[in-house]
Amino acid sequence: MNIQWYPGHMAKAKRNIRNDLQLVDLIIEILDARCPESSRNPDIDSFSKDKARIMLLNKADLADPSVTAQFDRYFRNKGFYTLEVDARNKGSLKKLNALIETACAPIVERNKARGIQTPVIRAMVLGIPNAGKSTFINSYVGKAMAKTGNKPGVTRGNQWIKVNSRLQLLDTPGITWPKFEREIVGMNLAIIGSINDQILNIDELVFYLIKYLVRYYPSCLSDRYGVEIETAEEAIRVFDEIGIKRGCLKKGGDVDYSKTAKIILDDFRSGRLGRITLEQPMREV
Ligand code: G4P
Repeated sequence: MNIQWYPGHMAKAKRNIRNDLQLVDLIIEILDARCPESSRNPDIDSFSKDKARIMLLNKADLADPSVTAQFDRYFRNKGFYTLEVDARNKGSLKKLNALIETACAPIVERNKARGIQTPVIRAMVLGIPNAGKSTFINSYVGKAMAKTGNKPGVTRGNQWIKVNSRLQLLDTPGITWPKFEREIVGMNLAIIGSINDQILNIDELVFYLIKYLVRYYPSCLSDRYGVEIETAEEAIRVFDEIGIKRGCLKKGGDVDYSKTAKIILDDFRSGRLGRITLEQPMREV
């Protein structure tokens, strides 16, 4: 299943982002903690070399905490500042002010050496669709400033938001990138809801998800649906059994896979299956 999703408005948004990067000191990238590597836009590295970088591992409440801790270390080893957050919860953002000052200290120092003061830090907020950018900005700024919604791909222009006298954020539209380098990246982004569902084969996508869960999180499936799982090779039987248990049957009695798939995907996305992460940090670190 080779998923690609880079509609025209995103190419335009990327050009705007690239232009506006010269205006900021810091990039705050919102990742989805359920697949931090897949949700990280590889284009950003190439055009932000002189910027301070913070990775927010958002939706940490939905991800496997032990894997999130591994990703935290992984990104720090790569030279990024990181914070695990639940953007809906203001309390999880408490450490962010201090982290921003730390991340920007070298830039402030560099400016100082050139006789330039840095009274205001300007940060760009980036992320794929549905990563939680609007939710983050609403919680952080404290007012309903940015519009939220769950439709990936709704275009908004870049927009400045004043957090306080020291910090301004530049909100940007959620974008993906022209080619997902690995098939798994597209699958992960589709599972978390960052790709327009209408272009997806949901049955196939959920079959892949079940295979993954049977292997790495079998108890999430057995606890939620009461299915027995003995070996990692049982995805088809598990798919069938969940359909039967949930009463998703067609007229002749066959399992309605589409209906079953929608239930499973919805349960995953909303956290009803438990805290699950779809990938591990790459092995090179
Ligand atoms: P975006 O601007 O990056 O596109 O994302 P947005 O903030 O609209 O968030 C997308 C969905 O993710 C929203 O749910 C939002 O509530 C949810 N969300 C954001 N951050 C977190 C988080 O840290 N944890 C959890 N569990 N959910 C998060 P929605 O169902 O589309 O809208 P709503 O009904 O919750 O408002």
